[in-house]
Amino acid sequence: MNIKDHIRSIPDFPKPGILFYDISTLLAHAEAWKDAVGQLADAVKPYKPDVLVGIESRGFLVAAPLALTLGLGFVMIRKRGKLPGDIITHNYDLEYGSDTIEIQADAIKPGARVVVCDDLLATGGTMVAAINLLRSVGAEVVAAQFLIELAFLKGAEKLDVPVNSLVSYES
Ligand code: PRP
Ligand code: MG
Repeated sequence: MNIKDHIRSIPDFPKPGILFYDISTLLAHAEAWKDAVGQLADAVKPYKPDVLVGIESRGFLVAAPLALTLGLGFVMIRKRGKLPGDIITHNYDLEYGSDTIEIQADAIKPGARVVVCDDLLATGGTMVAAINLLRSVGAEVVAAQFLIELAFLKGAEKLDVPVNSLVSYES
């Protein structure tokens, strides 16, 4: 099955000139989504992760079913102020301004092999921040797994872990 056939592209969203790759149509198609999760599982399995991490919010859509499929636990990296208990915070710079992501302090056992999942690799800024946060809590980040990679933005070049994506776009 060709995953791209189930991803819709919407011009000029969220801003004029941006072509938005919309996974709503893939998620809504049970058979195609099941096939995609199976392909993700095949890609992630060789890294022998102990746990999968998803990045809020669309990364949860990828990591949660994938963790269930692989029989692994799933840990959330969330945006500021959403997680209860002891929290580890990471601030990072964006093109304009800054952002914050968080993880629960006891979520990852030191030395655990982690695959980090997100729906989309664009500039790579979000995944770099997630990897830095995970390393600060003692994780061994063994791979970054995406559904979609916008290859023309060269985000993979910013990542110092193996990068996998199911589909890649050149424009
Ligand atoms: C989108 C996407 C990735 C990130 C990719 O998330 O889901 O997480 O941007 O961009 P980057 O590689 O340039 O960092 P967004 O922050 O729009 O939020 P959402 O997942 O909550 O929709
Ligand atoms: Mg996101």
